[in-house]
Amino acid sequence: MSAICAFILTFSTLCASRVVSGVLSGPTKVHFTSYNMNLVLRWDPPHGAASGLLYTAEYKSKVSAGYSIGCVNISTLECDLTSLNEPIFEYGTYFGRVRAQSGSETSPWVESTSITMDKETVIGSPNIYLSSNRATIEVSIEDPVFALSSLRRVYSDITYNVTYWKDGQDEKAITISSIQQNRIVVDKLDPLTKYCFQVRINKQLNPTEPSTSVCESTGSEDIPWVGVVVTFVVLGIAAALVAVSVVYRRSIYHFLCPKDSLPEHFKEYLLEQPNSTIYKAMQNPQPPEIIADVIVVEGGPLEVTAPTCIKQPDITVDQR
Ligand SMILES: *[C@@H]1O[C@H](CO)[C@@H](O)[C@H](O)[C@H]1NC(C)=O
Ligand SMILES: *[C@@H]1O[C@H](CO)[C@@H](O)[C@H](O)[C@H]1NC(C)=O
Repeated sequence: MSAICAFILTFSTLCASRVVSGVLSGPTKVHFTSYNMNLVLRWDPPHGAASGLLYTAEYKSKVSAGYSIGCVNISTLECDLTSLNEPIFEYGTYFGRVRAQSGSETSPWVESTSITMDKETVIGSPNIYLSSNRATIEVSIEDPVFALSSLRRVYSDITYNVTYWKDGQDEKAITISSIQQNRIVVDKLDPLTKYCFQVRINKQLNPTEPSTSVCESTGSEDIPWVGVVVTFVVLGIAAALVAVSVVYRRSIYHFLCPKDSLPEHFKEYLLEQPNSTIYKAMQNPQPPEIIADVIVVEGGPLEVTAPTCIKQPDITVDQR
């Protein structure tokens, strides 16, 4: 009898201690989120829990033996595992668990569902930049920045869907799908019209977020601004040249048509020596005779040498 009593006592004591340690129930809705390849374990407080709880979160990959410590005694409802000592891999599958603590009371561990990074991460919105030139708009797409690796390294086959519409007419939106490059030019747009663009990353399995829509106006089609500017500059230079030539017309005329064809000192030299043959020759100019020397070469064709000037017999160049 006493043995049975002792057994019941022991049992009830065991039960009582279990009940005491089980007063604190575990956190709820323990789950992973991943956005642009980060990894965060999140949870809600235990049902009916008092405030001031502390939480400890652990995680492991599919291939690792045991759990690694994520966050210890934190009061927030999330633990970012992206930049901890145990590195996260972009193709890894992860499991997590969390327990709550209040003074000396500790809740049991509550496990999360698993997550496979590359398959489940939410791909954030790309940034888009527009620049317009007359009837074309160039769209530059900037990929979202990943916490691990990069979008292109993880998903080499990524494409974009670019949707555009005239401002206020989004029901008539046009989508260009499966664009591989980060830059496209949309042409043949209406001039002086505001167009809005939105880009979506095209990835079938992962959730994706579209970019915000950005608007830009096209220019006027018919005014070639560069041509207008060049014409103005050329006309300006021409007008300046005309003005300068009018103001300095006398100087320009004297420069182009000088009165004296011989330098003064040379004429003086000639006049000092009236007996010089050159002077005489200048006084009595006679047309030089031109003859052609014909040389006959035996067995060959006739050769005609260049015409030569025959000087007057009475003129001999003084070779002093
Ligand atoms: C976390 O809190 C518990 C209980 O308050 C304490 O025993 C433990 O040492 C703490 N751990 C760290 C790492 O601070
Ligand atoms: C991109 O366009 C294609 C073809 O229209 C469509 O099948 C696909 O669902 C689009 N992707 C997104 C993310 O909207």
